[in-house]
Amino acid sequence: MKLRNVLVRSARMPWVVPALLCGALLSGCSHAPSIAGKWISNGMTLDNGEQQRMILNLNQNGADLTGQVKSLGYAFDVKGTIKDTHFELFNAAHEGRPFLNGDLANGELHGIRGRNHPFVATKAGPNDDLPTVEYITPPAIQPVTTNGLAMTPPMGWNSWNLFAGKVDDATVRTMADAMVSSGMRDAGYVYINIDDTWEGVRDAQGVLQPNHKFPDMKALADYVHSKGLKLGIYSSPGPRTCAGYPGSYGHEEQDAKTFAAWGIDYLKYDWCSASMVYQDKDLQPVYQKMGAALKATNRPIVFSLCEYGLGKVETWGPQVAGNLWRTTGDIRDEWSSMIENIEKQVPTAPYAGPGHWNDPDMLEIGNGHMTDDEYRTHMSLWALTAAPLLAGNDLRSMSDTTKSILMNHEVIAVDQDKLGKQASPAKNGDLETWVKPLADGSVAVGIVNMGASEAKASINASDLHLAGPVKKARDLWKHADVKFADGTYSAQLPSHATLLLKVSSK
Ligand code: GLA
Repeated sequence: MKLRNVLVRSARMPWVVPALLCGALLSGCSHAPSIAGKWISNGMTLDNGEQQRMILNLNQNGADLTGQVKSLGYAFDVKGTIKDTHFELFNAAHEGRPFLNGDLANGELHGIRGRNHPFVATKAGPNDDLPTVEYITPPAIQPVTTNGLAMTPPMGWNSWNLFAGKVDDATVRTMADAMVSSGMRDAGYVYINIDDTWEGVRDAQGVLQPNHKFPDMKALADYVHSKGLKLGIYSSPGPRTCAGYPGSYGHEEQDAKTFAAWGIDYLKYDWCSASMVYQDKDLQPVYQKMGAALKATNRPIVFSLCEYGLGKVETWGPQVAGNLWRTTGDIRDEWSSMIENIEKQVPTAPYAGPGHWNDPDMLEIGNGHMTDDEYRTHMSLWALTAAPLLAGNDLRSMSDTTKSILMNHEVIAVDQDKLGKQASPAKNGDLETWVKPLADGSVAVGIVNMGASEAKASINASDLHLAGPVKKARDLWKHADVKFADGTYSAQLPSHATLLLKVSSK
């Protein structure tokens, strides 16, 4: 690039000069500038008018970066690199795209947070920090009696996977309409769950208000109820939700009463910033606090714990009146993420049962980044593991294939089986076999082809532990009866597809 062009560009983007000087004009210059130290960034303006600021504490060793990032909603370790002026920082606990990337320019960090949020960070002074939060001692552990809800895994829709921060009243209403018109409600999907970013600020009495996107939560609940559906909402035991909005910290009873008064039927309660106040030993009593508060409202509200499987939640979830609990981090609309989540919840299998379920996160079916076979596998695995079925796609514009997957009544029946058993896998090369005993003495059996090429899948009746020889077998994706010969059924299975049968000795 000619020097004149460099100068013209640098007038608009001052950070290109150091990059180009080091990267192109001065060959052999490989010294990374230092960005070690404490930085503070402007954040987004939240939908409740508050600013989400971010503090970045960085250490640097040559081109390698480590450190911590924190905001009102989250804190985690980061790692990354700097080359010339360009830096990339990743969540130290996750693979994937950078959390922050950008350039050092004129003593400031300019770049992108996540997929598309611009940020500028300046050097922080010693007094620049986020507000400190006083520790509130959680209650002593005391079991909360069960609420008697969710005797089969909850089914519904949640706003997060597709809409994230863009959910609003109109979207929820049209989604409720589509839940009915598409046939989803009649297939069993009844909860319409609003995830994070609905929150406003607290009024003078401490009552949490919705933000401008949800002008009247009670009216919205009435609308959703008028469709024969139920409304879910989201909060955090921490001072802030993961997206930085007010959480229920110190307001648990007040918020439970507010939710009940609005007519809320389901609460997802997401750990998020609670990790900045509490330790893992506080998990159970902190969730118990909200479980008891919901119970005290006398309204039937499904209690959904979301703390990514911390502290062996499956062992104490029922004691806080939890109806379901996440066992994993957030799902993405990718084969590897979906499989990672289902495999992470394998050790929790003994703890699933009527009223209390392990939750490998919401469905991505219909969101467009997996093949139809992969989405059928997603649905099959969630059904075999008695997972909650919370659709995460746009119900208003589903393809026929998406509808045929989400509303396959024979697969839904496996998920909703009254016995409530969670299948575990047996591995044989690229094939994984999952067997789920059903209440009527039959079994559902799924073989997943994890490999990259087609494979022959065989089901041996002797592995199914039926009371007698196979009398009836049905392919739940083909909706057709099939025949076992000499105690075996085989089929060719494309890569990432699942053969799902219901097999009975009666
Ligand atoms: C966490 C949860 C997600 C979603 C977001 C909202 O990441 O695990 O399911 O609720 O928070 O901020």
